[in-house]
Amino acid sequence: MTLQEKIADLRTSALEKLPKIADEKTLNDFRVSVLGKKGKLTDILKGMKDLSNEERPKLGALANEFRDEITSLLESKKSEIEALIIAKKLENETLDVTLPGKKVTKGNRHILTQTTEEIEDIFLGMGYQIVDGYEVETDYYNFERMNLPKDHPARDMQDTFYITSDILLRTHTSPVQARTMDAHDFTKGPLKMISPGRVYRRDTDDATHSHQFHQIEGLVIDENIAMSDLKGTLDTLVKKMFGAERKIRLRPSYFPFTEPSVEADISCFKCGGKGCNVCKMTGWIEVLGAGMVHPNVLEMAGIDSKKYSGFAFGLGQERIAMLRYGINDIRGFYLGDARMSEQFK
Ligand code: DAH
Repeated sequence: MTLQEKIADLRTSALEKLPKIADEKTLNDFRVSVLGKKGKLTDILKGMKDLSNEERPKLGALANEFRDEITSLLESKKSEIEALIIAKKLENETLDVTLPGKKVTKGNRHILTQTTEEIEDIFLGMGYQIVDGYEVETDYYNFERMNLPKDHPARDMQDTFYITSDILLRTHTSPVQARTMDAHDFTKGPLKMISPGRVYRRDTDDATHSHQFHQIEGLVIDENIAMSDLKGTLDTLVKKMFGAERKIRLRPSYFPFTEPSVEADISCFKCGGKGCNVCKMTGWIEVLGAGMVHPNVLEMAGIDSKKYSGFAFGLGQERIAMLRYGINDIRGFYLGDARMSEQFK
């Protein structure tokens, strides 16, 4: 077979194989095997050294022609394959705009968190600092420092869970009062703080009792703090929380750590004071306990009770939220049923 014939043969087989190629790798292997350095054309051209001077350029021209033809066919085959890949991709990635979208469920904060943050905002606006306390407290801070010595009968109302005989789960946020008084430097100004957090009682859970609930403690100490300051502060709080028309009423009460002690009522936000089921026909709703800080509590913190005075208050977020939103079972707060939270988006 002459070299011309060999090239013609190679051309025939190449033209036959090329159209059947359908992927880039096979196409590339094909190019290497035909036109590559160690390919079939190179192989054929090795025979050129035996040709005469006239025949050699002719064969060279033929080889070039063949190379150009195949190269251009390879190019178009390549574009064809690429177009196919894109077409296939598009086909697989078609988007059915009529399909329902994936739902992104948006959560929201628990109503007790929302209530706490709302109250925090009100007090931040009045220049209070927000302080954290310990849920695991000592008997000393939870009781003794709140003027409830070991055999005080009022301890009975606040039985709790004991870790040791001296370490317990706090029954109220009031111990934070003592801890902040201990830490406060009065040469730098008055003490104004609130402290929200969880508290515990040895109570049997029912619709209105929970062994774990939430409180916010408030404390202000400075020279010349009077009952009127307490009343003005509570008035601001209830008007911001329950509406500008709300009135406040202080009733005498008893807490060991305040003297005098009061219970604060607000005029009913449902009936406006005429009497309804929310206020149990009294026109008033009890919302928190408060009073003037007992001199013993000040003195135990090393504060001169002749020079300084203060007021304190404590409220329960569960009670506030239950009143406001007509929630009638406290256990609903803790069950983790998303439907509870979803109502307060
Ligand atoms: N610690 C009280 C309780 O848990 C609530 C309370 C009443 C706090 C009067 C106070 C206060 O700071 O002055 O029942």
